[in-house]
Amino acid sequence: MRVVVGVTGGIAAYKAAEVVRALQERAHTVQVVMTAHAQEFVRPLTFAALTGQKVITGLFDAASAQGTLESAIEHIGVAQQCEALVIAPATAGVLAKLAHGIADDFLTTMYLAYTGPVIAAPAMNVNMWQHAATQANLETLRRRGVRFVEPGEGYLACGMTGPGRMAEIERIVAAVDQALMQGCELDGQTVLITAGPTREPLDPVRYLSNRSSGRMGFALAAEALGRGAQVILVAGPTALEPPAGAEVMRVETAQEMYDAVLARLNEATIIIKAAAVADFRPVHRASQKVKKSAAPPALELEPTPDILAEIGRRKGERFVVGFAAETEHVGEEAVRKLRSKNCDMVVANRVGEPGTGFDAEDNEALIVTAAGEATHFPRGSKHDLAVHIFDRIHQLQPARR
Ligand code: PMT
Repeated sequence: MRVVVGVTGGIAAYKAAEVVRALQERAHTVQVVMTAHAQEFVRPLTFAALTGQKVITGLFDAASAQGTLESAIEHIGVAQQCEALVIAPATAGVLAKLAHGIADDFLTTMYLAYTGPVIAAPAMNVNMWQHAATQANLETLRRRGVRFVEPGEGYLACGMTGPGRMAEIERIVAAVDQALMQGCELDGQTVLITAGPTREPLDPVRYLSNRSSGRMGFALAAEALGRGAQVILVAGPTALEPPAGAEVMRVETAQEMYDAVLARLNEATIIIKAAAVADFRPVHRASQKVKKSAAPPALELEPTPDILAEIGRRKGERFVVGFAAETEHVGEEAVRKLRSKNCDMVVANRVGEPGTGFDAEDNEALIVTAAGEATHFPRGSKHDLAVHIFDRIHQLQPARR
């Protein structure tokens, strides 16, 4: 495996040499890329001696030496040959650049051109780590599938104590191995995911809807892509940016979601219904905006098609995961939906509590399976829940095929 190690400018840059050695001991071929700031801490010669390869230090290194077209786009060539990109240490500055697509050196330009797994081991001062800007950048990158090896706590080079110290080498290398393994786990599979709310129009300007942001479904899509799947993401109205590489089908109503899902059902081997589909829609949709004075005294509603139940009827060998949003009796409702909708797994989240569920960064869930197991996922990020769900699918799906 060819692993690119990106070294950025923090005091932990010297530890990158150990990361390189540990990767080599696992038989990975390593190419080191250093930012200009990293070279203030460690000399490229250290890495050249370890890897036996020229260290890439600038966007135009090769072009200046060779002057060919190929050398001028070396970042594309390296991105194409790379099977895992490890950034260790990852400074606050480089995380900000990656999150905003700023490509002003070899590492950040190559990152944009690269589509495989990215593992980042942040290291910085505790206040920089906890700063809202850094945390927002981490969240953006997590949503796009970057895997973080979280920093440890302890005494930092700046003299402060707290989180910010680069994770231990073994954890970084284990994350690389896991990413490489998972990177092909879903090779050849197509995962169909629904996300976000639906909107059921009352008139041209009003609709019935719910608070779903799409985060849960988009986190699942990013994770499926990271594991090598083709992803079809059927998304209700959401302001989120979809993960790169997913085929996105935008829908608005439950009926449109039903049509889109059923049109692509045959291609899918795994289906995950994280969308919050409206259960009811207005029987009549006014063609003109309803005037305040003419508003009807009552709203007549009818049920929307139950997409998950229909998938359950047609599922064949597909692995079907439903969600359940409950405010009470979570366990009983999860099992009832699992059976009534013929699912292999139901992820039941308690909703209505602050900080989790609808339109929140975190989630907490009870996962029940057709095999009769129930596991509790304690409150954590939707990204971590997505990882957990795919780990469970990986364990259970072979029995369905
Ligand atoms: O989008 P976020 O802000 O990140 O929030 C995530 C979430 C809370 C929306 C998500 O975790 C979740 O719980 N999604 C399912 C919400 C829901 O509609 O639950 P339900 O219990 O009403 O429906 C059960 C299952 O049937 C769901 O998989 C749902 O997609 C499906 N369904 C429901 C109605 C319908 N007409 N068709 C369906 O397919």
